[in-house]
Amino acid sequence: GEDGAKADKPYGGWIPRAAMDEIARIVGQPPVRVYEVATFYSMYLLAPVGKYLVQFCTTTPCWLCGSSDIVAAAEKHLKIHMGETTKDGLFTLMDVECLGACVNAPMVQINDDYYEDLTPERMVDILTALAEGKDIPAGSQTGRKCSMAIKGPTTLKELAEKTGVA
Ligand code: FES
Repeated sequence: GEDGAKADKPYGGWIPRAAMDEIARIVGQPPVRVYEVATFYSMYLLAPVGKYLVQFCTTTPCWLCGSSDIVAAAEKHLKIHMGETTKDGLFTLMDVECLGACVNAPMVQINDDYYEDLTPERMVDILTALAEGKDIPAGSQTGRKCSMAIKGPTTLKELAEKTGVA
């Protein structure tokens, strides 16, 4: 799936109905069991997606930190809405539940990478860079290390300085 999403022809990374039926045959289960899994989890896609699958976390912590503005900026920039793919096949927008990076909210996952501490402007910068084939660093977009407190270490400060984290 990942290879498909990143392929030159930018459609891939999805499971057609025929493949689900074949999976059911292989594992010896009724097809509906496979459909249940594939339609429940957002990691399984039932239709082709763009080269870049942009998954917006809109769960409460990200929402409180402005994920609605991040979504709006991306939709306006790409001129598509959630669940749609740009005509050039580059981007598909999708909304997902918590991706486990709440402390660096708001965030999105694009293919295998997390982009965190986003602003609407930074979201547009990222989309522009990807469209131009430029490398853009993943992780926190404000430069903070991992999930460290925004204003730097609050505990074990001496150790943080000693180890070069702070
Ligand atoms: Fe967005 Fe958890 S709420 S990563």
